[in-house]
Amino acid sequence: MNAVKRIRLLAMAGLTLAAALCLGTGTPANAADQATPTLAVSDCVKCHKQEPADIASAGSGHKKITCFDCHASHRPSSKNNIPQCSQCHTGKKHYELTGCLGCHKNPHTPLNITLSGNISDPCLTCHTQQMAQLKQFPSKHSKLFCSTCHNVHGKIPQCTQCHKPHSSEQTAADCKKCHKAHQPKNVVYGKEVPNKDCGACHKKAFDLLAASQAKHKALACVYCHQEKHKMVPACQSCHGVPHPASMMAKFPKCGECHNIAHDLNRWNAPSKAEPKKEGKKKK
Ligand code: HEC
Ligand code: HEC
Ligand code: HEC
Ligand code: HEC
Ligand code: HEC
Ligand code: HEC
Ligand code: HEC
Ligand code: HEC
Ligand code: HEC
Ligand code: HEC
Ligand code: HEC
Ligand code: HEC
Repeated sequence: MNAVKRIRLLAMAGLTLAAALCLGTGTPANAADQATPTLAVSDCVKCHKQEPADIASAGSGHKKITCFDCHASHRPSSKNNIPQCSQCHTGKKHYELTGCLGCHKNPHTPLNITLSGNISDPCLTCHTQQMAQLKQFPSKHSKLFCSTCHNVHGKIPQCTQCHKPHSSEQTAADCKKCHKAHQPKNVVYGKEVPNKDCGACHKKAFDLLAASQAKHKALACVYCHQEKHKMVPACQSCHGVPHPASMMAKFPKCGECHNIAHDLNRWNAPSKAEPKKEGKKKK
């Protein structure tokens, strides 16, 4: 508050308090009345516009109490009329933090919260799961502050604010198909991931499968490489025992005849060359 405004307010206070005094008595005032002019809650707004307006618009829980509940007294009779939050808020880990007004910048709008600086520990007074994940799955995100990503309370950032997608076709909405923010290296995905998302990094596999004429072509990458990145299935997990045991004993590797999963040999396809290890036809 600047000096001029301060003086005006003080002058106004003097007038109003004097007026209150006169109005309060009606008859000639006695000494006791003069010493204790009374302020009502409805008087505050006469001199303080901002605080009542703040409470009216965004006081939330603090609407349930009055100015007096927090400001029990007023100058000049008392100067110390700013309350401690702990007068009313006790009994939770969150209320043991220091610097309440650092985040709850304005007590008259207590839920307008500003997160400034590097904050992690205070968040843990309410959210514990996220830190548990960041610790259980160490990554470079584990070294960031919570407020580096959540700079406004409750706001969820988009991955693409800080990272480029793996391909130009990917959007911010695609990231969560494979990544979770608090365990970004633990790549786990569902059945809906299209081949092109894997193909962004595995061009060779993508191209081979797309060019193949065998039935695997119709399958999704994630149909075989299920759930977790780098999972590699065994052929038998889907095909069981496709050939007689005697043959399997001689040629234990499927690949010896079938080549690789992304590019199966097709002996009956005219455009494909015959495999070298011919001779053992089925059955
Ligand atoms: C007649 C005008 C007037 C009225 C009515 C009035 N105030 Fe004040 N108030 C002042 C002035 C003047 C100051 C001092 C401003 C300064 O020095 O910065 C002040 C300061 C304050 C402060 C700041 C704390 C301090 O000690 O500096 C609080 C809190 C406050 N008033 C609350 C209230 C509340 C609550 C009410 C209603 C119950 C109220 N005021 C009614 C004029 C008034
Ligand atoms: C939940 C408690 C609470 C309530 C209710 C409350 N206040 Fe306050 N008020 C505070 C606190 C705490 C501060 C000190 C803020 C600070 O230091 O930044 C404060 C500061 C003030 C100030 C000084 C502002 C300044 O810039 O120096 C005024 C004036 C004031 N309040 C008026 C009011 C009025 C009028 C009401 C009722 C409409 C009210 N307050 C209701 C807690 C409250
Ligand atoms: C005079 C008692 C009193 C004081 C002092 C007080 N509060 Fe409160 N506060 C309340 C009450 C009552 C509620 C509403 C609780 C409820 O709804 O259950 C509340 C609610 C809140 C809320 C939640 C608002 C919502 O709508 O959910 C916040 C945040 C809060 N207070 C912060 C503070 C901070 C920060 C301070 C110190 C600057 C403070 N309070 C001082 C009484 C107080
Ligand atoms: C690091 C920032 C930060 C600090 C410091 C902080 N708060 Fe909070 N506070 C929050 C956030 C964020 C919320 C959640 C608001 C929501 O629910 O939208 C909150 C909610 C609250 C609530 C309402 C919910 C509840 O659990 O009761 C109260 C009351 C409260 N704070 C009081 C305090 C008090 C008292 C202090 C100081 C002892 C304090 N806060 C310090 C950030 C902070
Ligand atoms: C006083 C308790 C409290 C504190 C402290 C607190 N939060 Fe919250 N937070 C909440 C509540 C309550 C919600 C609302 C939950 C809901 O809507 O399901 C919330 C919501 C969130 C959300 C959005 C959740 C969603 O599903 O959209 C994020 C992100 C968040 N908080 C991050 C933080 C961060 C980061 C911090 C520390 C800077 C923090 N919170 C501090 C209580 C708190
Ligand atoms: C690298 C950025 C980043 C960091 C660091 C980060 N978060 Fe998040 N957080 C997110 C994103 C993005 C989401 C949305 C969910 C997702 O994509 O997994 C989220 C979601 C949340 C949610 C909503 C519920 C949930 O778990 O999905 C809360 C609460 C939350 N974060 C709190 C925290 C806390 C507390 C910390 C610090 C211990 C933290 N976050 C650190 C980016 C981050
Ligand atoms: C506020 C910025 C920010 C946001 C938002 C963010 N990240 Fe990060 N992320 C980083 C930083 C910083 C690093 C470390 C980069 C480095 O050191 O090279 C990182 C690293 C990573 C890494 C590599 C981790 C490691 O340990 O090698 C992955 C994966 C990652 N982010 C994925 C994501 C995903 C997915 C999202 C969205 C859910 C996301 N990030 C949101 C800032 C962010
Ligand atoms: C199809 C699954 C998938 C999708 C969708 C996906 N990622 Fe990834 N991401 C991965 C895999 C797998 C890795 C590499 C892990 C490794 O190197 O072991 C990775 C690595 C990263 C890294 C670490 C640095 C790097 O490039 O290797 C960042 C950052 C990253 N992803 C961000 C994103 C963002 C942002 C999005 C959304 C636009 C996204 N990812 C979408 C699977 C995916
Ligand atoms: C961000 C790039 C990226 C994306 C996207 C990605 N991968 Fe990978 N992938 C890698 C890297 C890097 C390796 C390790 C290569 C190495 O070790 O030579 C790898 C390895 C693999 C391996 C081989 C594991 C082994 O033991 O040889 C398989 C299988 C695999 N990825 C499947 C997939 C599938 C399926 C998808 C889509 C859901 C996918 N990847 C998406 C980067 C990625
Ligand atoms: C996740 C399950 C899965 C895995 C793992 C798998 N396949 Fe298949 N495979 C299939 C399905 C489904 C078909 C198509 C069956 C049909 O349409 O009749 C198929 C078809 C085939 C065919 C017939 C191709 C054609 O075009 O007629 C051969 C040969 C074959 N697989 C060999 C293999 C070999 C060798 C491996 C290991 C390198 C393997 N498969 C791994 C599911 C799998
Ligand atoms: C029919 C099941 C199946 C499908 C569909 C499939 N894979 Fe594979 N993939 C395998 C098997 C089995 C292996 C182990 C090598 C082998 O025997 O062929 C493998 C190996 C890999 C490897 C490691 C070796 C290499 O070739 O680089 C990567 C990376 C890979 N696959 C990515 C992909 C991607 C990306 C897709 C989708 C475009 C895909 N796979 C589709 C079954 C499959
Ligand atoms: C010695 C060569 C050889 C080996 C080793 C071999 N196969 Fe075959 N497989 C064949 C031939 C030849 C066919 C018949 C091809 C045709 O009909 O076009 C065949 C057919 C198949 C078929 C297609 C059956 C159908 O009904 O369409 C599947 C599936 C298959 N093999 C899976 C496997 C698997 C899994 C392995 C490893 C466990 C394996 N094969 C090992 C030579 C082999």
